[in-house]
Amino acid sequence: MFSKHKLTVLGIETSCDDTAAAVVRDRQILASLVSSQDAVHSPYGGIVPELASRHHAGNIVPIVDSALRQADVGVEALDGIAVTCGPGLIGSLLVGLSFAKAVAFAHAIPLVGINHLEGHLLAVLLEQDMAFPFVCLLVSGGHTCLYHARAPGAYERLGATRDDAAGEAFDKAAKMMGFGYPGGRIIDRLARQGEPAAVAFPRARLKTGRYDLSFSGLKTALRQFLQTSQGQTLAAADIAASYQEAVVDMLLEPTLRATRDLDLKRIVVSGGVAANSRLRTRMGEEGRRHGLQVAVPSLPLCTDNAAMIAFAGARRLAEGQRAALDLNAAASLRL
Ligand code: KG4
Ligand code: ZN
Repeated sequence: MFSKHKLTVLGIETSCDDTAAAVVRDRQILASLVSSQDAVHSPYGGIVPELASRHHAGNIVPIVDSALRQADVGVEALDGIAVTCGPGLIGSLLVGLSFAKAVAFAHAIPLVGINHLEGHLLAVLLEQDMAFPFVCLLVSGGHTCLYHARAPGAYERLGATRDDAAGEAFDKAAKMMGFGYPGGRIIDRLARQGEPAAVAFPRARLKTGRYDLSFSGLKTALRQFLQTSQGQTLAAADIAASYQEAVVDMLLEPTLRATRDLDLKRIVVSGGVAANSRLRTRMGEEGRRHGLQVAVPSLPLCTDNAAMIAFAGARRLAEGQRAALDLNAAASLRL
């Protein structure tokens, strides 16, 4: 969609705990593999950065190899390599970046560094037609931001969380309730049997920062509720559904307000939390109610993957962008 010649691009993503490799040709995903480290980090209730980078180092060669084999594409047939260069855990990022640089140098393949957040923001375009401009709610384990996406590559950040990301708010809630990591999926599943109005959790609305969010008050409210007698007897499904409803309300409100303020008609929701079934349903309902086009990627493209990195890279490569071999990783890279 971005160039006349359909570029075949290898994507590499190691920003957090998943090692991912993909081969994408234009909008076609020829292979997209993710090696999850959930089992490695689960006993610690969160990601241990040193363990994450060590496992990336062990996973990167076999996963890239498997992606190329599954796509039936030889290294010599690649038009480019796109690699996540930030934001993320520095040790994790460096594994993917060093590997991508080495392959690009050894085979004289063009290299491009991709902001992980741009990958999430564009992911839905791999499977749906969506015209610019749109408002993008980017919700993951490390980020919760609202963007005005004017055109490919032109993104204005409208607001962001002041404390926890939405994914963290889910993960910490699951931990407090005695469930495993990552907790978003667990809360989502449990909440399906629960009553969203069972507990009236607070919805924070900040006085400053027009589209900013804060989840720390909600987290504290859950901790305090769990210590009450009602908190100890109410069904976990009802608590999960009520907590999830509060998170979803807090995400919907600024997204819809920004769409209205900017007089836009399209919304994209992306990132790991976009996999949340309640968020997907409510966003769809609001879209129909207000006559907005709402696009949310399929589940494998919501959570971290390398297809979105290859896709974002193809556009930049088609524009002639090339990274030099001194490209560095940036843990707090902004979009
Ligand atoms: O985008 P992602 O895979 O990695 C980051 O870049 O952070 O997002 C991971 C986050 C985790 O916090 C996880 O709990 C959350 O996405 N998540 C969900 C669901 N599936 C994953 N949160 C709520 N509901 C889900 N179904
Ligand atoms: Zn992510």
